[in-house]
Amino acid sequence: MNKTLTIALSKGRILGETLPLLEKANIVPVEDISKSRKLIFDTNHEHIKLVILRATDVPTYVDHGVADFGVAGKDVLMEASTKNLYELLDLKIAKCRLMTAGVVGQPLPNRRLKVASKFIKTAKAYFAEQGVQADVVKLYGAMELAPIMGLADLIVDIVDTGNTLKANGLEARELIAPISTRLVVNKAAYKTKYSEIEPILEMIRRAVEDNE
Ligand code: ADP
Ligand code: PRP
Ligand code: MG
Repeated sequence: MNKTLTIALSKGRILGETLPLLEKANIVPVEDISKSRKLIFDTNHEHIKLVILRATDVPTYVDHGVADFGVAGKDVLMEASTKNLYELLDLKIAKCRLMTAGVVGQPLPNRRLKVASKFIKTAKAYFAEQGVQADVVKLYGAMELAPIMGLADLIVDIVDTGNTLKANGLEARELIAPISTRLVVNKAAYKTKYSEIEPILEMIRRAVEDNE
């Protein structure tokens, strides 16, 4: 008997790219996730289940071992305080960049910087590493508004096309990290369920290569 494997998926923009990748790896939910209010789904494999979570909650479920696998952005993983998971695979989807940005042409002030971000841990670590004194304010979205409103000198946020920055009179300044979606696994599950995990990992690995 195969042990049950639970894969935690991030809803939102990653999900639309994750499901086709899983399908290529022959892991298919038995019903249409986009048409359902359910949060847990059976798949074509009796022992594999999918749960659909807020992107920022995925590392928590995997860290606690209630989900075996997780699919989450590198930005979310960097910000999470987890110790019980391994990053196994770069799924090479939802590629973007974590960057600092400020008002176009506006020089930085000669004092402690004010920075707004939803990635406060990553932002603090970045400025500390640069030797720059900064106070970081936590926001939950629409970071681009903060410099315009005078809440911050800089933001730390995701940049993809750059359209959101441009539309708000901001410019990207420094690259903090290239971002893509990663497959993570709970450390204990990786040992105790190795014989179930390994073939799935191999199928997903091949699906990623196929995507390139
Ligand atoms: P949230 O509501 O938490 O912002 P999203 O669904 O917007 O969640 O984003 C989920 C993940 O997708 C992020 O953690 C990041 O890795 C990636 N991502 C976010 N914004 C973009 C973007 N504009 N382009 C590509 N990938 C992105
Ligand atoms: C993300 C990110 C930026 C934007 C960047 O926001 O926080 O605002 O995308 O993409 P671009 O460079 O292609 O314009 P999202 O649309 O996910 O909104 P939210 O996370 O604030 O809800
Ligand atoms: Mg978003």
